[in-house]
Amino acid sequence: MGKLSLTGGARLVGTVRSSGSKNSTLAIMAGALLGKGRTVQHNVPEIGDVRTMMDMLRALGVGCEELSQGVVSIDATDIENTEAPYELVKKMRASFCVLGPLLARRGYAKVAMPGGCDIGARPIDLHVKGIQALGAVVNIEHGFVEAEGDGLRGAQIYFNLPSAGATQHIMATACLAQGVTTIHNAAMEPEVVELCNLLTKMGANIRGAGTPTVRIEGVKELHGTEFEVVPDRMEAGTFAVATTMTMGDVTVENIRPDHIEPFVLKLREVGAIVDMYDNAMRVRCNARPMATDITTMPHPGFPTDLQQPFAAMLSIAQGVSIVTENVYERRFKYVNEIGRMGADIKQDGRTAVITGTAKLLGAPVTAPDLRGGAALICAGLAAEGQTDISGTEHVERGYENLTYKLCQLGAQIVSNPNDIERESILV
Ligand code: UD1
Repeated sequence: MGKLSLTGGARLVGTVRSSGSKNSTLAIMAGALLGKGRTVQHNVPEIGDVRTMMDMLRALGVGCEELSQGVVSIDATDIENTEAPYELVKKMRASFCVLGPLLARRGYAKVAMPGGCDIGARPIDLHVKGIQALGAVVNIEHGFVEAEGDGLRGAQIYFNLPSAGATQHIMATACLAQGVTTIHNAAMEPEVVELCNLLTKMGANIRGAGTPTVRIEGVKELHGTEFEVVPDRMEAGTFAVATTMTMGDVTVENIRPDHIEPFVLKLREVGAIVDMYDNAMRVRCNARPMATDITTMPHPGFPTDLQQPFAAMLSIAQGVSIVTENVYERRFKYVNEIGRMGADIKQDGRTAVITGTAKLLGAPVTAPDLRGGAALICAGLAAEGQTDISGTEHVERGYENLTYKLCQLGAQIVSNPNDIERESILV
């Protein structure tokens, strides 16, 4: 189990560069399966989830290699296997989205039921509904989803709620279906638009990505291409929170301002001074943050992935804040952990009432999931004394070199302190 030991209290100051977006990279890697040829992705983050997806593509018999740092080549000219193994899909939900591309290319796919962070019920009904609407026969048994159908056909599909994953999955699959597919009540996340941009470069014909209605006109074949992954808005938001909590002054470079706008507006409400530039933002804060309420919603609402770090910040704010989690009900698992550090958070169902405390005190805590772990790191940076966080392998799944980047800004963090102790004993 990964561990971090943080000594809180240092102001974060300096400049940090955002890595490529985790969620966008994963969707693009699955989408690349649709192309007969080689797709080269640039600005790919070196994180656990990307390594899992690379293993998945290799397990499918697809050529997948890292050409140089951050450059990944996927050659899907041939797809040898059509079965995605349980060991890989259970690690990460995004890997489930190989189902549709495999089906579209090979007429058959068998993919284990997905896993990933335990942040609430994560059904796949919308994915399955979309695949069935395109004409495939789907069987779900023994922990696997099996889809069969040569010659997919375009369809009208309505999603009961705007799922980012299902929109991406069905939009990509429909590119190789005959005729026109329209997805109604589609998710509008930037990662949907980015996947559309990739598919378009591969030869697809898609209109409306980023709006609630996406129209896909199927083509016979897609080809490989080159693609640059967008910056990670969740990582940039996490740096902004950590800076505000430590009353620091940090410029986050390589961001897409339009992707992070809803979050920035809320950050200003707590008193942070945020200057936006073409592809950077400077975040400063010179006083204790002020309370505010947040309600997570599909894009362009406040992103659920930044709820936990933001709530960590509200735990030291002046006043009472209400956080409502509308997307994933179990994204409050960090509440008990941050409570060990002195935070006053009362959670009931999808709502948490946070009464800000002047300061948090370092304590041993456990990261419950990816973003919950990031929230505890932010809390530890602002806390008085030492915070030992275990379970940080969750964080490594989604943040590239987070410890190194924070230390460059002045944070005091030691990775795997037990290993260091053990090494010194061995010496
Ligand atoms: C993606 C992101 C995740 C983010 C989430 C919401 C990746 C790898 N992950 O996850 O970081 O928190 O979007 O922005 O890109 N739902 C159903 N049925 C389905 C699918 C989803 O009911 O078939 C529900 C989910 O339970 C959830 C809501 O839809 O309540 C949104 O989930 P969705 O947008 O699909 O999230 P993911 O794509 O899994």
